[in-house]
Amino acid sequence: MMRIIVADHYKELSRWSAQFVAGLIRGKPNCVLGLPTGSTPIGIYSELVQLYEQGLDLRYTETFNLDEYVGLPPSHPQSYHSFMQEHLFRHIDHPSSHYHIPDGMAADLEGECQRYEEMILAAGGIDLMVLGLGPNGHIGFNEPDSHLGTKTHVVSLTRETIQANARFFREEKEVPRKAITMGVGSIMQAQEILLVVSGTGKREMLRQALFGEVTTRIPASILQLHPHIVVVTDFSLEPLG
Ligand code: F6R
Repeated sequence: MMRIIVADHYKELSRWSAQFVAGLIRGKPNCVLGLPTGSTPIGIYSELVQLYEQGLDLRYTETFNLDEYVGLPPSHPQSYHSFMQEHLFRHIDHPSSHYHIPDGMAADLEGECQRYEEMILAAGGIDLMVLGLGPNGHIGFNEPDSHLGTKTHVVSLTRETIQANARFFREEKEVPRKAITMGVGSIMQAQEILLVVSGTGKREMLRQALFGEVTTRIPASILQLHPHIVVVTDFSLEPLG
């Protein structure tokens, strides 16, 4: 079943999504969350920090980030390790052994991907996977392609994604060319998916993804096949005509 929630604005989208995540944590304190980075979830993390300050207990929750750049040390300001510290982890009491982000500096990247998958399995699988949508329809760093990796794997970023992410770096050539990402299969195995999409610039892509054909050219379209997906937007979303 797919539920679509249309929020009036970004703040409401963030608040609704954070409440949704908090609802799961209250019901199952030791739940396992899959988490994205990027500009979309910043508001959700800030709302979650506020809920934490009001008593939400996150100590037993385990988190797995979707992806990390290859070649950026965790201390690099644009690494996803730094992002998560800045927006969530440093504000909450959450043992570091409970949060996981792929190690983009691993000498054996293939081995790291396998280790990551095994850790997700050992944690009991992901209860709720929070996702953003790339302007080209990617989820995690699963880029449009005829073959999508199903498990956690190393990917080469597309020109489009490199350009989209260049805004976070001093120059485009500093953007890493590769990343480790959970695969579409790892994402689809989550019990539930929360896809959060902000900004009318992504409206057409989201409509194609949700109501168009299921195709590896739009990785997010595969989410149509998931039995429990909640989509939150801050714009209206008429079905395809
Ligand atoms: C980040 C990730 C990406 C982003 C997507 C949207 O961990 O997995 O798929 O969710 O690129 O990014 P923003 O929110 O910056 O538009």
